Amino acid sequence: MDLSSPERLPLANLPTPLERLERTGSDLGIELWIKRDDLTGSALSGNKVRKLEFLVADALAKSADTLVTCGAVTSNHARATAVAAARAGLRSHLVLRGEEPALPDGNLLLDRLVGAEVTFITPDQWPEREAIMDRVVADLGAQGRFGYAIPEGGSNAIGACGYAAAVGELLAQAGDLRLRVRRIVHATGSGGTTAGLALGCAASGRTDIDVLGVAVCDDAAYFDRVIDAILDDAVDRGFVQPEIRAESHWTIVEGYKGEGYARTTSAEMRAHAELARREGVIVDPVYSGKAFAGLVAEARKGTWDDGATVFLHTGGIFGLFSFAEAIQALG
Ligand SMILES: Cc1ncc(COP(=O)(O)O)c(C=O)c1O
Repeated sequence: MDLSSPERLPLANLPTPLERLERTGSDLGIELWIKRDDLTGSALSGNKVRKLEFLVADALAKSADTLVTCGAVTSNHARATAVAAARAGLRSHLVLRGEEPALPDGNLLLDRLVGAEVTFITPDQWPEREAIMDRVVADLGAQGRFGYAIPEGGSNAIGACGYAAAVGELLAQAGDLRLRVRRIVHATGSGGTTAGLALGCAASGRTDIDVLGVAVCDDAAYFDRVIDAILDDAVDRGFVQPEIRAESHWTIVEGYKGEGYARTTSAEMRAHAELARREGVIVDPVYSGKAFAGLVAEARKGTWDDGATVFLHTGGIFGLFSFAEAIQALG
């Protein structure tokens, strides 16, 4: 792979398994595989860990002592950042959108457990999140500390290197299995995973692979802008040559947000339960569940040509605990 990525701190359990989803694949009439990035770790699970390997290494290189990031109260990225900080001997400060619950659960419980400092902000303040994080970094500076700000979802050129590198890992596994990867389907929430995958495929000379990011919020026009900016930044920082960037391609798949970001319906929950019961694969309703629903519906259109479809399971299990009532209602 022709990519000069920055320093990397090993945090994830790699390589994650690549497994066949025989029953679901044969129902859909496709060769279906799952890349288990939900198994990158236990508390440090999910796609964010691959990004954090590069982001935390950069923070350490800059002698930061605190990771500062943002997300929803239920954010997987914020939790992964807080746990990664603890693993690296750093502190963390999270700017979280939403109200502080009387009793934390899921990701917030883990944030608290690993000692993250938290600033809660309202949805109205969310558009100002970058400025709020800058203020947190300035306040830390005034106390003699050094904060390192990580954008929403860890989605910048440094974080995207995690998924550019993941493509090399996937292709090596596919080579061993004599598998021709034709498409990679995954959830897109802040764009970094899609950007990294697109870059990694181009850098590996595999522009025949379709990188299909299922939008779980916003829309294709928004994500195309975000991903373009991440890739431009990767060129500016010298991680990748302009020719590779020019060959990087992806498609944002719309139509599977359902009732909106972090909202679910009983039909969606039933589909997640069916997958869990049939394959032993647990998806979350906010990200991986919507991406999997998108994969199933797109495959059923019958327009996908031969070759393996890889579902990249990006994790999110702790988010599932906020949906206990909906799961209980399934019986
Ligand atoms: C479990 C999970 N899957 C997928 C995503 C989307 O990845 P990205 O933010 O890189 O688009 C996120 C975060 O947004 C996530 O937490």
